[in-house]
Amino acid sequence: MSTTLFNLQLDHIVHLQHAYEQVLAKYGFDSLVIYSGHASHHFADDHATSFQTYGHFMHWVGLADIQHSWLVIQSGKKPQFYLHAPADFWHQPTQLPDEPWLSVIDVHQCTQALAPPVEGRSVVIGDIASTTPDIQQALNAETASNEVVRALDELRMFKTPYEVACLREANHLAMAGHEAAQAAFIGASGELDIQLAYLAASRQRESSVPYQNIIGLNGHAGVLHYQHYDITPPSQRYSLLVDAGRRFRGYCADITRTHAGPDAPAIFKELVTALHHLKDDIITRIEPDTSFVELHQQMHQALGSVLVAHDIFKGTGEQAVSEGVTRAFCPHGLGHSLGLQVHDVAGLRHPDGSAAPAPSEHPALRLTRILKPGMVVTVEPGLYFIPMLLNPLRDTSLPINWTLVDQLMSCGGIRIEDNVVVTENGYDNLTP
Ligand code: GLY
Ligand code: MN
Ligand code: MN
Repeated sequence: MSTTLFNLQLDHIVHLQHAYEQVLAKYGFDSLVIYSGHASHHFADDHATSFQTYGHFMHWVGLADIQHSWLVIQSGKKPQFYLHAPADFWHQPTQLPDEPWLSVIDVHQCTQALAPPVEGRSVVIGDIASTTPDIQQALNAETASNEVVRALDELRMFKTPYEVACLREANHLAMAGHEAAQAAFIGASGELDIQLAYLAASRQRESSVPYQNIIGLNGHAGVLHYQHYDITPPSQRYSLLVDAGRRFRGYCADITRTHAGPDAPAIFKELVTALHHLKDDIITRIEPDTSFVELHQQMHQALGSVLVAHDIFKGTGEQAVSEGVTRAFCPHGLGHSLGLQVHDVAGLRHPDGSAAPAPSEHPALRLTRILKPGMVVTVEPGLYFIPMLLNPLRDTSLPINWTLVDQLMSCGGIRIEDNVVVTENGYDNLTP
């Protein structure tokens, strides 16, 4: 790992310490305790489900697999890290990396799951309800109010240079997976083999992905969160949609690419190109003080133009938007905040923590913020052929070219997704 990244991480921890001290002072606490969380088990079995460390815990340590552990943050003191490290011959004990950040944090190796010692008036965040009654009783801390958690969420909205460097590297690693997935598709692989090619090239096991990879061939590309991997390749290859990420030091990439297959109608490939341009055009509009809701609305206007330009809608682009046609072709939001969680915190909040819900006509939008430097967002326009959404329009007089839509149904849909940081002067696209 480069010295630069390690130095940026030290700056990041100084920044966190300062910001947490402000939260402690504002809400009148001496200590802030963070629980890492732990994996739960399948009912009546010793088989654990996949797990990721609580985001506010990861914010300090950047490790996504720390369980049964605690952090205690106090003003003027090093963070105290109570690491659960049981003596266990069934499993490999947790080992921390030999890295500089561990010189600015005090680590206490704990052989048992226990509550950490705290001083003064303390507040705790995390999934405490999942700990044992003994731990809950021993923990001398108040449960945090929503205001405290929202203040920390707000802190996560603005990425430090260290976090941006991690997100950039996560994108590089994920992109190697996307290239391998495309190659596997060209080689006529099915969904499972495309998934395995992605995992191998992005160097990760399936349990560490930041979200379940979406690998959809043909009509499956039109299932927004398609969750299966068919083992057998289909006989016809119209399309492939890959929405797949990678963590790097806790930080998530969230990238989507769509490819036209050899059996797709020519117009599908043209639409894929149009969606790439649409995505690029929206990204160039990103700068401080831009409203993400307005960008989302601009995406709909651009989608209206794409539908008209490709003869899918025989009215005007404005009509396609105002009549809800673009929403039937793209039911999700333009994007969301990205960080230690794929759908990161505070996207639907004002800076003071009050609610900033999605507009009623765009209920799936997950980010309603005015963009500011340091925010990292996804930009992910989509255009889908989803029978459940389009069929109700067949009974209307809307000038939709159903012959063309029916030809495109077998392609499922298109999504193109990049990860972008808002800078002082504009934007920096983290996706290679
Ligand atoms: N991969 C989930 C999303 O794009 O929001
Ligand atoms: Mn996304
Ligand atoms: Mn995605």
